[in-house]
Amino acid sequence: MSVPVQTRPDWPPKPPSAHALSVERADTLSDADMAQLCEATNAAIAEGGGFGWVEAQSRATLERHFRGVLLVPERELFLARLDGEVVGSAQLVRPPRNNEAQAFAAQLSHAYIAPYARGFGLARLLMRRVEERAASLGFRVLNLDVRSTQTGAISLFEGLGYVRWGAHPAYARVDGQTVAGFFYYRLLEVPGGRSTEAALGELGGD
Ligand SMILES: CC(C)(COP(=O)(O)OP(=O)(O)OC[C@H]1O[C@@H](n2cnc3c(N)ncnc32)[C@H](O)[C@@H]1OP(=O)(O)O)[C@@H](O)C(=O)NCCC(=O)NCCS
Repeated sequence: MSVPVQTRPDWPPKPPSAHALSVERADTLSDADMAQLCEATNAAIAEGGGFGWVEAQSRATLERHFRGVLLVPERELFLARLDGEVVGSAQLVRPPRNNEAQAFAAQLSHAYIAPYARGFGLARLLMRRVEERAASLGFRVLNLDVRSTQTGAISLFEGLGYVRWGAHPAYARVDGQTVAGFFYYRLLEVPGGRSTEAALGELGGD
C-alpha cells in the first residue's frame, strides 16, 4: 500500500535571522534617516530598479522627492530598517477623493530594498506592513505594477498571493529598450469589518 507523501512548504524551518528587521510608517525624516534613505534608494536604482529613475540621482533631488512625498496627503512613506539603519522603502497611495468608484482600492509603489540588505525577509515584512495599514484604512484591494524584468519582485509578489491580471507591452523604457510590465492585485480583509467577499460581491469579469 502506498502512503501519500505530505509535503510541507515551511520545512525545514529557516534559522532565525541574526539581524533586527523592522518597518515603520514615517511622518518625518531625521537627517540620519534621510541620508540612509537616499543612499539605499540610489543603490537600488544603480542595481536596476524600484523607482521610475533609471540613473542614480543627486542627494538634493532625492531629498526633494522624499520631502514631497511626506507632504502629499494621499501618500504614506514606509521605511524598512536592518539593524536600525534605513535600507529600503515603499509608498502607499490612496485614491484621490473624486475617485469614488475606486475608493476601495489603494496602490503600492516604489517598493525596494537596497542590494546590501536583501535576502533577510525585509521586503516580505515591508509588504505585509503596507497591506496591514491599507486594510486598517478600510481598503479592500491593493494594486501594484512592476517591470517584467524585475524577477525577484515578481517572485515576492506572487509568493505573497498577488494575482496578475494584465501585462502592458510598452510599460517602461530602460537603457533604450522598451520593457513590458505586469499588473497585480491582492484582496485585503478589513479588521473588524465585513468580509471582502461580502463587501465587493461578485467580482466583475470581461
Ligand atoms: C524584490 C526585492 C524588494 C526583494 O527584497 P528582499 O528583502 O531581498 O526580499 P525578501 O528577503 O523579503 O524575500 C521574500 C521572498 O521574495 C522572493 N524573492 C526575493 N528576492 C528574490 C530573487 N532575487 N529571486 C527570486 N525570488 C526572490 C522569495 O520568494 C523570497 O522568499 P524566500 O527568501 O523564502 O525564498 C528586492 O530584490 C528589490 O528591491 N528589487 C529591486 C526593486 C524592485 O524590483 N521593486 C519592485 C518594483 S515595485
